[in-house]
Amino acid sequence: MGKDGFAGPVLHFRGCDADGLRLAAITVRPDGAGAPGAVGTRGGTVPPVLLARVAGLSVWRHDFTLALGEAGYQLNGHAYPVATRLDGDIRIAFVSCNGEENGDLDRDGAERNRMWARLQADHARAPFALLLQGGDQIYADEATRGHPLSGDWPKHVPANPSAGDLEDLARHLERRFAERYMMVLAAEGCADLFATVPSLSVWDDHDICDGWGSLPESRTDSAVGQVLFTVARRMYLLFQHGATDADVPALFLDPAGGNLGWWRDLPGVTLFAPDLRSERHRDRIMGPGGWNAVEAMQPAGDHVFMVSSVPLLGPRLSLLESLMMAIPRMQHYEDDLRDQWQSHAHRDEWRRMLGQVLRMRQAAPVTVLSGEIHLATRAEMGPRETLIHQLVASGISHRAPPRAYARVLGLFAGLGEAPLPGHAIRIKPLPGQQHRYVAERNYLTLDRRDGRWQAVWHLEESGLTPPLALD
Ligand SMILES: [Fe+2]
Repeated sequence: MGKDGFAGPVLHFRGCDADGLRLAAITVRPDGAGAPGAVGTRGGTVPPVLLARVAGLSVWRHDFTLALGEAGYQLNGHAYPVATRLDGDIRIAFVSCNGEENGDLDRDGAERNRMWARLQADHARAPFALLLQGGDQIYADEATRGHPLSGDWPKHVPANPSAGDLEDLARHLERRFAERYMMVLAAEGCADLFATVPSLSVWDDHDICDGWGSLPESRTDSAVGQVLFTVARRMYLLFQHGATDADVPALFLDPAGGNLGWWRDLPGVTLFAPDLRSERHRDRIMGPGGWNAVEAMQPAGDHVFMVSSVPLLGPRLSLLESLMMAIPRMQHYEDDLRDQWQSHAHRDEWRRMLGQVLRMRQAAPVTVLSGEIHLATRAEMGPRETLIHQLVASGISHRAPPRAYARVLGLFAGLGEAPLPGHAIRIKPLPGQQHRYVAERNYLTLDRRDGRWQAVWHLEESGLTPPLALD
């Protein structure tokens, strides 16, 4: 576990208004190590509150506000600088897919976190105001191993486990999830970023388990599946939002918490992330909680960034999906395709979400940010007058698939797609690249200069792309 059970401070973005920048800082310490000190700001000192105890760890939180222009905060003898002026030129970093399905805990740290180190150096040059994390912040896939109830997940689940055994499974999963979160949060090269750049995150399947929601309902609705989801959700709230169930109405659009989508207004920019996992079934992506929230959303900013944990604008994959369904051995890949907006099972919802994005586009330019595919690419949905950009950056530490895979995907992407009549989707190469998909680890930076946004991809081997103007 990261640094013997110590991690943090980890900053979470809560809001920004005339009073300043509202933050929550999470500090994790082993049970019995005592509380962290108070946070010091220009406005005074703020003591920590104990948020939760889990897996032998105590999770503490400081809620505080930094005045606009204030240099940062102090904690336990350290000064942490924070960008607190969000009304002029600002920078936002976007990352996704921070891990791998197998053996992520045992990877060489320097190799695993190479792109994080670059992001940190980038932050030292020109500070980021915000870190957006677009899904798969941990890879929990192996958490189910090592317990008799979930050892065969998702192939087989026991029919009638006892309440006691399910309790035992919950404790097992809590330890395994906590171990992964602590590794990620305390990793060298990441810890300093998390302490100085407020984060906003949305989860994807690996924050729960591979394919959550696209697996057969006999698995997800089983007693074991429900314990897995309950633990994953609790740990997600705690480690990715610095929150518990009590905070849900204040932080998420659906006050009941059935869907954990959120939006935040910063000066001149609206950030919005639907939760595409909590309500997902084989035949639906979101339920009433998610859809009511999206349809009620009125963006206030001059630019809207929507985080879609799986790409909203994609190539025509339905042909590929039909082919795979016909071949039993390809079932796993069929689940992967079922995760996509383009799946034949989700086509109505896809059109519904695209319709919502076009509705928001009437108020302000909309840029979709997405991860999930472990490649860098971009897309546009036309026509020019209502152009929607999609920027895909994935992953920050997940290694890229073979180049040949990227080329085949590029061929499919050449087919084009228009789920809404008159709004053709085109997958396009990044600025300066020949092919549509780049098979390199990467992250994305967004810069607002004199009110205009531009995006740059940071590619592990190819370096920085030329900037792409977003308006
Ligand atoms: Fe991923």
